[in-house]
Amino acid sequence: MKKILVIGIGAGDPNYLTVQAIEALNAADVFFVMDKGPAKDKLVALRKEICARFISDPNYRIVEATSPERRRDGVEYKAAVDELNRDKQQVFEGLIENELAEGQCGAFLVWGDPSLYDSTIRILDAILAERRLAFEFEVIPGISSVQALAAKHRVPLNFIGKPVSITTGRRLAENGFPDDADSAVVMLDAQNAYAQLAGEDLDIYWGAYVGTPDEILVAGRLEEVKDEIMRVRMQAREANGWIMDTYLLRKRGVRD
Ligand SMILES: C[S@@+](CC[C@H](N)C(=O)[O-])C[C@H]1O[C@@H](n2cnc3c(N)ncnc32)[C@H](O)[C@@H]1O
Repeated sequence: MKKILVIGIGAGDPNYLTVQAIEALNAADVFFVMDKGPAKDKLVALRKEICARFISDPNYRIVEATSPERRRDGVEYKAAVDELNRDKQQVFEGLIENELAEGQCGAFLVWGDPSLYDSTIRILDAILAERRLAFEFEVIPGISSVQALAAKHRVPLNFIGKPVSITTGRRLAENGFPDDADSAVVMLDAQNAYAQLAGEDLDIYWGAYVGTPDEILVAGRLEEVKDEIMRVRMQAREANGWIMDTYLLRKRGVRD
């Protein structure tokens, strides 16, 4: 039987790798490295650095595949993501079928944690459901950008006994601050959605490229720091050609 390991590698700092992830890296024969967009070179390089640093027997193979990109030509978001995942499924199937021999172990190195805004698990389930390929797979958790952000700001995500919502910039822009939480973590925000909430009494803990040498952190009352975040964010995006940022919004005045 072929085996696939879905290994969370943490959201930027190679030191985020867990002992379990390092053991999993050492168990794999083939690494499938897939990235896309302007950050591709840097993200692929980081994965190679992780392999070189943590694998004791250099007798492994790295197979690079180009990850398909989401259509951005006005197609509805969910439909575009479904289409993207179908395209990705084909790429994954090709890798598992052609690059992995029976009895071998292949690994996908997933940024952060595989359970959070990542489709690797969903795609492997879809392949298995079609029953054309047979393999077993295991998921190794990683330190997500959410945990890394909270640690860098030294802030808990939730107030005592209260819920925290994890959402996207797109949803925040469409629906405002979630009704059912006092704290919200926002990911995948390409549109500075926090700036639309400036009238609300919120604190923001913002971080870009968290855990990497380019890390930038800004925190404070949203009203007071939103312009600074927008300025720093734009400058960083221009300088690097891409940006990865996440932030925590918390209602002010909620007591722990
Ligand atoms: C496709 S999601 C992947 C999330 C990933 N699985 C995780 O556990 O963090 C990409 C989003 O994660 C966030 N992100 C990932 N790495 C980050 C980092 N090092 N610093 C800040 N945000 C990051 C950003 O919001 C980015 O838009």
